[in-house]
Amino acid sequence: MQEYILQSDDFLVSQTDEKGIILFANDDFCKVAGYPLEEMVGKPHNIVRHPDMPRAAFKDLWNTVQNGKIWTGYVKNKRNGGGYYWVYATVYPMYDKERKAKTYMSCRRKPSRTEIETVEKLYRTMK
Ligand SMILES: Cc1cc2nc3c(=O)[nH]c(=O)nc-3n(C[C@H](O)[C@H](O)[C@H](O)COP(=O)(O)O)c2cc1C
Repeated sequence: MQEYILQSDDFLVSQTDEKGIILFANDDFCKVAGYPLEEMVGKPHNIVRHPDMPRAAFKDLWNTVQNGKIWTGYVKNKRNGGGYYWVYATVYPMYDKERKAKTYMSCRRKPSRTEIETVEKLYRTMK
């Protein structure tokens, strides 16, 4: 499967509800994921999940953001129609002004080749 390498100025954003259902995706995320916005909205975020990603990474992501903290990490995602891409993601919880109605945001940028190689090795040892 072919790797799609992000451009240095790509900035992929998505927002989910508390269950991980996609509420919004910006143009860069739609372009790289290979879905039009209307197809992403309403779907669970695991539509872009790549089977090489260890479960433990997402467990850590969810534990972190559900505790009100910011998660950063490397994610390999699959593209609609084939192929994959790596991102360095920052995921954080957002609240309305009453600190209710929580949603989650993820902002992703291009990781370096060295970072990808290191993480690929590490993820192979994880479940
Ligand atoms: C804001 C946000 C962004 C996410 N982005 C991704 C993503 O880009 N790729 C991905 O595989 N999972 C992402 N997830 C995690 C998914 O919700 C899900 O936990 C993961 O894909 C594993 O799917 P599974 O639990 O069905 O195995 C994100 C979660 C949140 C809250």
